[in-house]
Amino acid sequence: MKDSKLRIVMISSECAPYAKTGGLADVVGALPKILRQRGHDVRVIIPKYSLIDYNKYRLQPFLGTMGVWMGNGQEWCTVHFADNEGVPVYFIESNKYFDRPGLYHDASYNDYQDNPRRFGFLTRAALQLCRDTSFAPDIVHVHDWQSALGPAYLKIWHWNDQILGRAASLLTIHNLAYQGVYSASHYEYLGLQWGNFTANKFEDHGRINFLKGGIQYADMVNTVSPTYANETRTPETGYGLAMYLTDRGDDYIGILNGVDYAVWNPAVDQRLPANYTSHDLSGKGVCKEELQRRFGLVEDPNVPVFGVVSRLAAQKGLDLLANGVEGILNSMVAQFVILGSGDPDLQTYFSRLPSRYPGRVGSFIGYNEDLAHLIEAGSDFFIMPSIYEPCGLNQIYSLKYGTLPVVRATGGLEDTVQQYNEATGEGTGFKFILPTPGALADTIGWAVSTYFDRKPHLQRMIQTAMAQDYSWERSAAGYETAYERALRNQQK
Ligand code: ADP
Ligand code: GLC
Repeated sequence: MKDSKLRIVMISSECAPYAKTGGLADVVGALPKILRQRGHDVRVIIPKYSLIDYNKYRLQPFLGTMGVWMGNGQEWCTVHFADNEGVPVYFIESNKYFDRPGLYHDASYNDYQDNPRRFGFLTRAALQLCRDTSFAPDIVHVHDWQSALGPAYLKIWHWNDQILGRAASLLTIHNLAYQGVYSASHYEYLGLQWGNFTANKFEDHGRINFLKGGIQYADMVNTVSPTYANETRTPETGYGLAMYLTDRGDDYIGILNGVDYAVWNPAVDQRLPANYTSHDLSGKGVCKEELQRRFGLVEDPNVPVFGVVSRLAAQKGLDLLANGVEGILNSMVAQFVILGSGDPDLQTYFSRLPSRYPGRVGSFIGYNEDLAHLIEAGSDFFIMPSIYEPCGLNQIYSLKYGTLPVVRATGGLEDTVQQYNEATGEGTGFKFILPTPGALADTIGWAVSTYFDRKPHLQRMIQTAMAQDYSWERSAAGYETAYERALRNQQK
């Protein structure tokens, strides 16, 4: 960004590699690194969940105690520090709130009842940390509902503060469907003042809506792809907040996520049995063989393998696959590998499928980074039939691994995958529109027929896909522009 180097603090509930359930962690892990390379002083603040291994990540004590004012009194925490490849990361430790096995829910997927307090506390503690360390940020960058109260705290409590009074805020929405809507009984604790419990700020049918307040108070708001930014302005995909987003006019924008190609790149990926490039794909064959072996599939290089790595949530549309995959298995030559966890019914379905189609379907229910990389590399095609997708990272990883995405044309999937043109062989993947098992099955069939009948097209698509560049450079420039605008808005 021009010549001005910014001081930026990011507050988030996830950050790779420390704590991750999805793409939010990848973004908060990668974006600060590139912003630092561009000269900005970026710091990240996340909770010290008990699952974060102190020794593995070389955490160090930073502050023995820190007092944080909440709406009904002071609470205490400690702060730890780690260096994430040059990015300072601070961890807020509170046994009361973060000493639990999960990030958001228990092993049975029941949300922790005190989530609004946990993340309200995180956000206030993060701002307090800036004050206690005299770090005066130009930008407070918050992510999703978990830290969406940050902009409001700045404007309600810190507008006149020496350290925080000049900070502008950016709210990044990674998923509009999760808004942080909770009983008003938490409002007092959050310390947002009852005068602000109004329909245009925090109140939502008598409850508190974190994200709504964030949209109202942030100096700039963005989401993670241009198409999703447009979709969320419409009632169908706006989840009740379309009107508020539309009201923000040009202060609500879409910035496509980037990819950390130091982590997701088949040429250097250390988790693979073999590396490869677009000039020499032999390593991809080795990965495919290993993938087939690991998942108990028939080890045949000439059968197309379709991979899935996903949260098993309604958003991801994997019920379309569950409802269509057996028809496909009974009529086409194809293998499937599924890695994911989430919805109990889908978990049960996909965990049983391999025993019903031995050698043709493999699955692993759970979270496993090594397998995620192996599936990206060893599959021929990658399936993402999302009902909606703010950006989606796995399809972008797939492009780099020469694993052609089969996606529904929505949100970031629409923005990053170019439709195959059967007349010319152009394109990087296969897209469909209707969210039905039939449309997905037809599109998988299209990929299968391309695999067997139009090999030159397949080769060309793999080359085109691997040449796509979604590195963070471009997206970082987009964030710099958003920060500049936020600063201008803050000074108005
Ligand atoms: P979302 O954030 O909505 O889940 P993204 O595509 O943006 O979707 O990011 C998902 C990230 O989480 C990717 O890095 C993906 O590899 C990872 N991931 C999802 N499920 C699993 C799993 N079961 N095991 C390992 N990694 C997973
Ligand atoms: C959310 C979205 C996903 C996006 C990720 C990172 O989890 O579901 O589409 O890629 O955030 O921004």
